[in-house]
Amino acid sequence: MANELGVIKFAVPFAALPPLSRSFAAYRAPRRAVLGAGFSFLSQFITMAAPNFGAKSFIASARVKGAVEKVLENMEWPEQFPFKEEDFQRFDESPDTLFYESPRFVTHIDDPAIAALTKYYSEVLPPSNTRGVAILDMCSSWVSHYPKGYKQPRIVGMGLNEEELKRNPVLTEYIVQDLNVDPKLPFEDNTFDVITNVVSVDYLSKPLEIFKEMARILKPGGLAIMSFSNRCFFTKAISIWTSTGDTDHVIIVGAYFHYAGGFEPPKAVDISPNPGRTDPMYVVYSKKLAA
Ligand SMILES: C[S@@+](CC[C@H](N)C(=O)[O-])C[C@H]1O[C@@H](n2cnc3c(N)ncnc32)[C@H](O)[C@@H]1O
Repeated sequence: MANELGVIKFAVPFAALPPLSRSFAAYRAPRRAVLGAGFSFLSQFITMAAPNFGAKSFIASARVKGAVEKVLENMEWPEQFPFKEEDFQRFDESPDTLFYESPRFVTHIDDPAIAALTKYYSEVLPPSNTRGVAILDMCSSWVSHYPKGYKQPRIVGMGLNEEELKRNPVLTEYIVQDLNVDPKLPFEDNTFDVITNVVSVDYLSKPLEIFKEMARILKPGGLAIMSFSNRCFFTKAISIWTSTGDTDHVIIVGAYFHYAGGFEPPKAVDISPNPGRTDPMYVVYSKKLAA
């Protein structure tokens, strides 16, 4: 399946970008100027969280082996959530329902990245067909990348395009809901064993509300797995994401878990299958604190 047109890889040099992408990139400079606490927050951790990288930007250090996995170790988080409202703005603030109105039966990462994620899932998800297990795939589409034939009594998909969700073979039910308009997750407390979210955490403009909700609906000890690569729908991703690099993204998602509360300290894994050659793939995960 072809990768989706219009998905921009950050690694592409500016001059090589097609005209449309270049016009997005042209807007980046003024947006960086409005980034406040987000940027200083990230740079604050350059020496604190990864002393071996000295004063180097995380954007550069993303290529240092192990940078992603180490960055959340022994993290000393500031007392207050360090991001500002503008860090969660997007170029395109029109309703997300419009952007996702037409189905996209494509994959958003390349085949090796998908294979790496599926392998990771095969190691951490509950065995297929386990009695009482419930899973939520947030920001779901026609694929969830779970192991082939994977089944559970309840697998709920939440997303914005009904035709995509209808076609997803792993889901036992689905809900269409714009999480940036209504971040309340329509489930009872302590419902799910696992929550997954693939290449979409960067579209959430109210992440703290959503991560608090995730903590509420997970069972004690339940696992939340946020995975992402270096691709995105640039106009729909939040400002702090499009202005930073892979290792920064790990800190950003780690911060969501930390400041939402109710989770164990988040951890990061680099499951990139062929570093530097095919799409990278990162996982930031945490478990809901046991009651
Ligand atoms: C890049 S696609 C990823 C889809 C799927 N997880 C995958 O791996 O192929 C982004 C997904 O995020 C969902 N999404 C984006 N914005 C959303 C929002 N505001 N509320 C709920 N879902 C959203 C869309 O429905 C879309 O399926």
